[in-house]
Amino acid sequence: MREAHSTHIALIVALDEQNAIGRGGDLLCHLPNDLKRFKQITTGHTVIMGRKTYESLPKGALPNRTNIVITSDHAENYPGCIVVRSVEEALTHYKEGEKIFVIGGGMLYRTTLSLADQLYITRIHHTFSDADTFFPGINTSEWKLIEKEPHEADEKHPYAYSFLTYTKK
Ligand SMILES: NC(=O)c1ccc[n+]([C@@H]2O[C@H](COP(=O)([O-])OP(=O)(O)OC[C@H]3O[C@@H](n4cnc5c(N)ncnc54)[C@H](OP(=O)(O)O)[C@@H]3O)[C@@H](O)[C@H]2O)c1
Repeated sequence: MREAHSTHIALIVALDEQNAIGRGGDLLCHLPNDLKRFKQITTGHTVIMGRKTYESLPKGALPNRTNIVITSDHAENYPGCIVVRSVEEALTHYKEGEKIFVIGGGMLYRTTLSLADQLYITRIHHTFSDADTFFPGINTSEWKLIEKEPHEADEKHPYAYSFLTYTKK
């Protein structure tokens, strides 16, 4: 599926100690610093998301980013977004040398992990017992940890968390 060598596909995700990412169509918890980091990393770039993740966005398409939604639904239901039917079609929409971010959810992460060359992970140091959506297992022998930034819980963050950046070995 990966055609050009200049392709830069990054997955960005917040996951708990068991790789859980969601529950009832929503995130597991609210971590303002994670949202800040997400915005900082993805702004100005192209983001690709599954239909259910689009539906979870409180204000629809993310500002200052090219939004691509993968769905079999009608395009008019996704204002401000490029609507495509498949990962292959999504990948036809970015330009040489550009970096694109897969922003979820579970289904889309599963079909794009093997195409990615970078992972931006927020590891939430907690296990949510009622999660229903998961990130695929990461084979750590294939990935090199290049950045680790641990944070303690505080009044705005109910759990400790770490920002981790991996590149494909
Ligand atoms: N923790 C995080 O960082 C994070 C990030 C994003 C989302 N989430 C959470 O993840 C959950 C949603 O994930 P999900 O797995 O249920 O849904 P999803 O991947 O967001 O969306 C699934 C839908 O998108 C389309 N789709 C996705 N991948 C496709 C592919 N490879 N080919 C064709 N169509 C594809 C299909 O749409 P149609 O059915 O319309 O055809 C599919 O039903 C929510 O709880 C959300 O809050 C968490």
